[in-house]
Amino acid sequence: MYGMVNNAIRSFVIERRGSDLWSKVCERAGIDHGEFAATMPYDDALSLQLLQQTAVALDVPLDCVLRDIGAYWVKFAARSSFGPLIQFGGTHFEEFLGNLNAMHSKIQASLPKLAPPSFHVEPACDGNLIVAYRSVREGLFPFVEGLFLGLAEHFSQPVEILGFEQLGPGEARWVLRVGDRNVDGVLVPAA
Ligand code: HEM
Repeated sequence: MYGMVNNAIRSFVIERRGSDLWSKVCERAGIDHGEFAATMPYDDALSLQLLQQTAVALDVPLDCVLRDIGAYWVKFAARSSFGPLIQFGGTHFEEFLGNLNAMHSKIQASLPKLAPPSFHVEPACDGNLIVAYRSVREGLFPFVEGLFLGLAEHFSQPVEILGFEQLGPGEARWVLRVGDRNVDGVLVPAA
């Protein structure tokens, strides 16, 4: 994955637990502890190694680290040069998710080796949202859940994960209950 992702892991660890812990993570991963080149693709195995060593250093399960970094990613990306894409990607959670494939395609213009996931968003009859995810990568489902929560926070909308079904190695579907939109939005409570 592009260095930007490894930089997000780095910032997450440094902001939460300081640079000494980050040095420890890098030492265990067998790499130097400087920044990564944001626009250079790195091996996925390196990102996984950094995530695994972060979990060991924080003494928490890998899934927790993936979820927390997913939530953190939204803030991190908003601060990056791609921030305007987040700003103009939609005015509420559902709209933003629906625009995510187009957003990753735009990013691909700057990062041509990007292998982004794809999302399909569909409202269910009961008012819930069905979100299908497909990726060439395995095991990132908790990261996606963290992203949902990060986006919920970004849009100040309550989002609850009601259901999860794995459909393949990098394929899954969630049922989400999404609450009120911002001031002029139509959708209201999800009690
Ligand atoms: C401006 C904001 C964003 C930028 C710049 C961005 C960019 C990226 C980059 C560079 C990767 C690594 C993939 C690679 O290098 O091949 C990635 C992966 C990913 N992105 Fe985005 N992204 C953004 C927002 C989002 C949001 C809001 C979501 C929410 C659902 C999302 C979902 C994902 C997921 C799940 C992955 C993991 C890779 C996978 O599933 O295969 N991204 N993105």
